[in-house]
Amino acid sequence: MATPTKTIRAIDEHTITGATIEQMSTTSNPRMKHVMEALVRHLHDFAREVDLTPKEWIDGIAFLTAVGQKCTPNRQEFILLSDTLGLSSLVNSLHDKRGLEDSTKSSLLGPFYRQKSPVLKAGESISTTAHKGQDVTLYGRVLDSKGAPVENASVEIWQPDENGDYDLQREADLVDLRGTFHTDADGRYCARSVAPTGYMIPMDGPVGDMIRAQGRHGYRPAHIHFLVGKPGYREVVTALYLGNDVHIDSDTVFGVTESLVTAVKQHDPESPIPNLPAIQFNFTLAAAGEAGMGRVGADPAQIVKK
Ligand SMILES: [Fe+2]
Repeated sequence: MATPTKTIRAIDEHTITGATIEQMSTTSNPRMKHVMEALVRHLHDFAREVDLTPKEWIDGIAFLTAVGQKCTPNRQEFILLSDTLGLSSLVNSLHDKRGLEDSTKSSLLGPFYRQKSPVLKAGESISTTAHKGQDVTLYGRVLDSKGAPVENASVEIWQPDENGDYDLQREADLVDLRGTFHTDADGRYCARSVAPTGYMIPMDGPVGDMIRAQGRHGYRPAHIHFLVGKPGYREVVTALYLGNDVHIDSDTVFGVTESLVTAVKQHDPESPIPNLPAIQFNFTLAAAGEAGMGRVGADPAQIVKK
């Protein structure tokens, strides 16, 4: 008489998903369990929907391998991939939704943020080299959700120059067009700079290959990055976009949203620096309501250690 054998599950294109999730069900961290189960369900549904072939599977593996190989302490190709697939912008929107109070909308931190930019006094210029671009004043206030001024908030600013280049793209150790300011008792900040120009995202890697294959232009409209915060408030990572840029409504990384579009005013009687064109914007900080930061992005050196 034959010994009864355990019933072996038949694995096919449908049962594989349940089998995988069942095997992962021993995950002790509940958040990791939830995220990984959803990842497997969507990944399998994706493969079934497109009827993924072995050739396409290995092409995908080769693409992700190339993305990883392109990453250095100065370059984060995976973040660029996330940005160009709209995932970073989506994560920003989800983060904004979790806020306890309304605040300025988030935008991408981008790959050119560097920690510890020079601390400057109100009205000082973030420019440290000669520029041919138009001099501008960046000014406004940092307010809480009820409109009260936030004193001593830190306002970090970084931006490309009139050619669309960031300092570290010109020279690895150059510090130019970036600085940290602090608001006064009325929540006011004021910096001098030059008007930025739009730029093309780095196109010399696998993400650039993808963008070209999709017939996309690869440009970001002219913008200035801001990181605004103070202990007790939710930090705001955002950017202001110049509405007259030709790519204002087709940003390759989906950072532009209506409320962040602004303009250079040639004559602004309200500006603290008379006779200089100005960009004015007030930021709103929400009360801190959760642990953790809101940066969708990072200084690449923090991810890939030398
Ligand atoms: Fe940028």
